[in-house]
Amino acid sequence: MAEPKAKKARMDLGELTPHNVKQFKLINKIIFPVSYSDKFYKDAVAAGEYARLAYLDDLVVGAVCCRVDGTKIYIMTLGCLAPYRRLGLGRMMVEHVMNLARKDKKVTAVFLHVDVNNEDAVEFYKTFGFEVTETVKGYYKKLSPGDAHVLEKKVTHESEGDSSSNGDDDETKAAAKADKDKDAK
Ligand SMILES: CC(C)(COP(=O)(O)OP(=O)(O)OC[C@H]1O[C@@H](n2cnc3c(N)ncnc32)[C@H](O)[C@@H]1OP(=O)(O)O)[C@@H](O)C(=O)NCCC(=O)NCCS
Repeated sequence: MAEPKAKKARMDLGELTPHNVKQFKLINKIIFPVSYSDKFYKDAVAAGEYARLAYLDDLVVGAVCCRVDGTKIYIMTLGCLAPYRRLGLGRMMVEHVMNLARKDKKVTAVFLHVDVNNEDAVEFYKTFGFEVTETVKGYYKKLSPGDAHVLEKKVTHESEGDSSSNGDDDETKAAAKADKDKDAK
């Protein structure tokens, strides 16, 4: 008899609240080499849709937190636990941030800093059309050498051009590639 098909795990984003902020702290502590202040977590809880936990079924396995910085959105943290990588959770979080950016007409770009040695993250962001715009020497004070790339992706709002020429092509292509790859597996 054929084996029953394994049920596909559900991937979702959920709110960050005072009740689950400890899970966010734990996730960041495991993923990032820098520690974040109590103020960071207090602000994150107040950040509404700019902070989200990533769920795989009922498990919190990742999180994203960003803020508006002038006319840009700045991604402060975005990550998922190592055993749950390459499942599409990172993509789900980037897409969430890009949707927030597209919803706000004054937002012109999304940007973030990444350790120059974090090749996985650089490749990940490039998949979505982010580009290195600058490299800052000694950006991470507690890391050595601590140099960081600034990665940025411009946001084009609907009224500024048709969908075939906007800057979101990379996301569409990346999503199409993922679908194709999944079909092939
Ligand atoms: C970067 C990170 C968030 C990616 O998360 P993820 O859930 O593994 O990413 P996804 O599964 O959504 O990947 C989407 C696409 O990005 C690209 N990608 C992801 N990880 C990659 C890697 N290590 N190398 C090359 N490309 C990669 C691939 O094209 C991938 O699609 P595919 O799996 O169909 O080939 C994750 O590795 C992580 O948490 N790293 C530690 C935290 C961090 O460095 N965050 C960035 C700074 S804020």
